[in-house]
Amino acid sequence: MAFLSDTLSRVKPSPTIAVTTKAAELKAAGKDVIGLGAGEPDFDTPQNIKEAAKAAIDAGKTKYTAVDGIPELKKAICAKLKRDNDLDYTPAQVTIGTGGKQVLYNALMATLNAGDEVVIPAPYWVSYPDMVLLAGGEPVIAEATAATAYKLTPEALEAAITPRTKWLIFNSPSNPTGAGYTWDELKGLTDVLLRHPHVWVMSDDMYEHLVYDDFKFCTPAQVEPALYERTLTVNGVSKAYAMTGWRIGYAAGPVELIKAMGKIQSQSTSNPCSVSQWAAVEALTGPQDYIATNNALFQRRRDLVVEMLNAAEGVECPVPEGAFYVYPSIAGCIGKTSAGGAHIADDEAFATALLEEKGVAVVFGAAFGTSPCFRVSYATSDAALKEACTRIQDFCAGLR
Ligand SMILES: Cc1ncc(COP(=O)(O)O)c(C=O)c1O
Repeated sequence: MAFLSDTLSRVKPSPTIAVTTKAAELKAAGKDVIGLGAGEPDFDTPQNIKEAAKAAIDAGKTKYTAVDGIPELKKAICAKLKRDNDLDYTPAQVTIGTGGKQVLYNALMATLNAGDEVVIPAPYWVSYPDMVLLAGGEPVIAEATAATAYKLTPEALEAAITPRTKWLIFNSPSNPTGAGYTWDELKGLTDVLLRHPHVWVMSDDMYEHLVYDDFKFCTPAQVEPALYERTLTVNGVSKAYAMTGWRIGYAAGPVELIKAMGKIQSQSTSNPCSVSQWAAVEALTGPQDYIATNNALFQRRRDLVVEMLNAAEGVECPVPEGAFYVYPSIAGCIGKTSAGGAHIADDEAFATALLEEKGVAVVFGAAFGTSPCFRVSYATSDAALKEACTRIQDFCAGLR
């Protein structure tokens, strides 16, 4: 449509949301569908956080706040960054937005000029390349393969950097693979960045707390203090505190960048929801014990899903360190024909046939930049996971 902007034609709608919508439609039409596409915990928001929000409403904390967040939440974020990440930030170095998504978007909008490049390791979270395009930049995809458990190598990072590179977007544990970088693996990447002083790093730490088997989370500014002045550390309460609908994310970094991001927000959405901000204060400063309780459950589900998927013919599923996703390869299924007669030419065809023939909704790997694979979110009940994995095994067994 000629009326729409050229910028819009550069981006595509979120494929993960498309899968969730399609599964919901089939369900509404009476089909027996199990959705493994969700990007959110299936737990309820903890009671103490809900109570804090109710108290905020009753106390009349329902008006505009400072554009980039209330001082109480900024203080709580600084304390969190010190407690969990050993990072020193002052409230002036912190900005709060409507979810981590808005914060990432503000940072790109505030820094990218036409032609500026942003290195994005693949498999990537679906929104990174499109956000870069919306902000006028150029995504440069740096592939990580199954051979390195989908973690970017220093060599691949080095090869992706050009004089036009402005940012590396780093995400650990990763959506979609669940891969978490150890201190030494991350140090390999920060050493590369030290050699390229014009490149900044945007670290998306959204899945920080969702880690298993005693994995120790770490973040670039902590691993390489010399990068502190060119690191934006992004995080939020959505995943760890089951608060996806409350829409609170934040970032800490150099004051000038933080101010620029606030300027973008001041002319777009203004402050994030006042009540949600008070709920986030409680999330960050209140009891943290339910994170460990939830992780024990997630770890059990991860182990269940990995075992069942590895038992499916043609499927190979690595064991990830964190998040609530697994990312199996289906190289052994490509080129075959399903029991229902579908030609499995690629991972999109696999996901479509799996949904139509077995009623299991997964997101195909091409959406995340790495094929042939698919993403399973195990943020759903054990019973649903067992049933879904049994159906995937049946589907694969029927391939000829
Ligand atoms: C890697 C990653 N970063 C950021 C976000 C955005 O989270 P929020 O709900 O805080 O906007 C998500 C949500 O799916 C994510 O998976």
